[in-house]
Amino acid sequence: MNIKDARTKHTKLSLEIEKHDHAYYSKDAPLISDAEYDALRTALSGLEHEFPELVSLFTPTRKVGAKPTQGFHQIKHTVPMLSLSNVFTRDDVQDFSDRIQKFLNLNTGIAIDIIAELKIDGLSCSLRYEDGILKHAATRGDGQTGEDITQNVKTITDIPQALIPPFPKIIDVRGEIYMRRDDFKTLNDLQEAAGKDKFANPRNAAAGSVRQLDARITAERPLKFFAYAIGDASEKIATTQNDVRNRLAAWGFVVTEPVVHAHSIDTMMNFYDHINHTRANLPFDIDGIVYKVDRLDYQERLGFVARAPRWATAHKFPAERAVTRLKNIIIQVGRTGVLTPVAELEPINVGGVIVSRATLHNENEIIRKDIRVGDNVVVQRAGDVIPQIVEVIMADRPQDSMAFMFPNICPECGSHAIREEGEVAKRCTGGLVCPAQATQRLKHFVSRLAFDIEGLGDKIIDEFYVDSIITNPVDIFKLEEKLPDIKPPLPFRDGWGEQSVYNLIAAINNRRIISFDRFIYALGIRQVGESTAKKLAAHYLTLEHLMASINLMEELQSIDDIGPRVARDIYEFFNEEHNLEIILALKNLITIEHYTPPIVTENPFRGKTLVFTGTMEKMTRAEAKAKAEQLGAKVSGSLSSQTDYLIAGEDAGSKLKKAREINVAILTEDEWLEKLRGV
Ligand code: IVH
Repeated sequence: MNIKDARTKHTKLSLEIEKHDHAYYSKDAPLISDAEYDALRTALSGLEHEFPELVSLFTPTRKVGAKPTQGFHQIKHTVPMLSLSNVFTRDDVQDFSDRIQKFLNLNTGIAIDIIAELKIDGLSCSLRYEDGILKHAATRGDGQTGEDITQNVKTITDIPQALIPPFPKIIDVRGEIYMRRDDFKTLNDLQEAAGKDKFANPRNAAAGSVRQLDARITAERPLKFFAYAIGDASEKIATTQNDVRNRLAAWGFVVTEPVVHAHSIDTMMNFYDHINHTRANLPFDIDGIVYKVDRLDYQERLGFVARAPRWATAHKFPAERAVTRLKNIIIQVGRTGVLTPVAELEPINVGGVIVSRATLHNENEIIRKDIRVGDNVVVQRAGDVIPQIVEVIMADRPQDSMAFMFPNICPECGSHAIREEGEVAKRCTGGLVCPAQATQRLKHFVSRLAFDIEGLGDKIIDEFYVDSIITNPVDIFKLEEKLPDIKPPLPFRDGWGEQSVYNLIAAINNRRIISFDRFIYALGIRQVGESTAKKLAAHYLTLEHLMASINLMEELQSIDDIGPRVARDIYEFFNEEHNLEIILALKNLITIEHYTPPIVTENPFRGKTLVFTGTMEKMTRAEAKAKAEQLGAKVSGSLSSQTDYLIAGEDAGSKLKKAREINVAILTEDEWLEKLRGV
């Protein structure tokens, strides 16, 4: 065997071993017997014995018996962990309430029952109890899958290891892990005394403490827990959110206080104002009030959109503000070439966080607020939102200040920057030659909701891009193959040990299988976010089908939420030769799973195509559609021979006539409701 063949064989064996390590250690689900695994290792060692030069490359033989330092095991949530939409003003609160009433088709005159609770600023956690015993604990992660932090949460005294009876056989309890302000201060003093980095705020301290691989460190951190919801449950445990709180408390959890049962917007607003004014006296940080529809049957009917429930929202406290000097305006270029002006500020403490940058959105915004370098400006921070400049303090303006000239060329690649009709932002026309766009695309490609490759942080991508190690997504999955050609070899570059290379390759290999919707999202098509990517995946099912049908604009636009502009962006993306090259190359390196619809139990509408027409009386169109989709049905706007049911409300017109002509089954609203009752 020559060295070239040996290297290829070495890579193959290493990958194989890596796959089994992952299955064994991270998934607790070995794919082969111990003896078969040992045989792979023996073969690898033999090869390295014969070709000692291979040993310096990424090699699992160096890690005999060691558990890969991949971090935490993954836990799939049986019921997804959602996030919350935000509201800021009284009008928003009114809209939230109106939307719910409209969706449920309730009399808008009567206010719906709402439970208003504190919104704790920590990190959410799901605790699974089986027969009353804590089985495991997971972080939210991407909402579907989180990290296993069981050992760590066992050190939190607020979290019962065993529930006080009576309890259901299986129950997921959800809540927030947080740190009190006084404990946070003591911890930071200790960190400082030990010469370690201090934490920015209690939430970061709590998150950092939970995510310790060594639970002994977590045990030393003063963490607390509030329970606020339930996830999966083997039986019905309550009919209202209020009952849920009572049950949680009865099992031994701490629930947030105070709480208000509101029947009007006024009550909600009064509670909000009261807590906002007194929150400085609370021993822990809160960032708003959460409003939840009290009745759980309503919650179920309302369901959720994208990643947030319709039945709850977070009323955020107003932004914290401060005045500072604008030192400079720089232009950043994003993934799709958009030029975004960013303000560089004299660092300033805004509500406990040091702010040194703020977004200026676009050219118009700078003109509208007449923002100039050298100005004193009011900066505000609202929750997790990027800091913004509210206004300029004109009285402080230096005499020699000059209006800001927005560039007409891209500062990153020198291509023309133009503003298309109807758009507010200028866009670089450099496309693939623009390094800023290329690196942003790569960062998006590996981000959490896309390929989720942990070892490839922003800094590494920038570095690898400059050194031409990774210039496009294909290079990521060819990295291992190219390791021997990288000069200077990776393990000898600054800050790179062999272990880091091993970890990076392992992280990449762990992601060679991806779901179709994540893949679409990862491509970074303009205007195609997570939710649109899911809809495309659900419609086309496979990449092959999507690519074969992409020129059928009508079909594309028939998909929910895809209007002419988004359709054009998708069409253009898949008609651009460079993009096709990348996709075809990727297909050889990774596996894109066919879309699998969420598992829904057998019901009369699963897999069927429905069309709604006419006016519905007992359920709004939106609710009917959401319900149908939840049952695994497809809702279409137009009637064809593919349609399984036409659900006709009052005054149904031409569609009803056509359905009769082409023999499509017709249901009245009552018949539709009757069938729903059975599921
Ligand atoms: S209910 C379906 N209640 O806020 C939504 N969440 O911004 C379930 N949070 O992910 C959440 N206090 O981590 C709920 N009283 C409270 C909360 C609360 C804090 C967190 C939670 C959630 C995040 C959304």
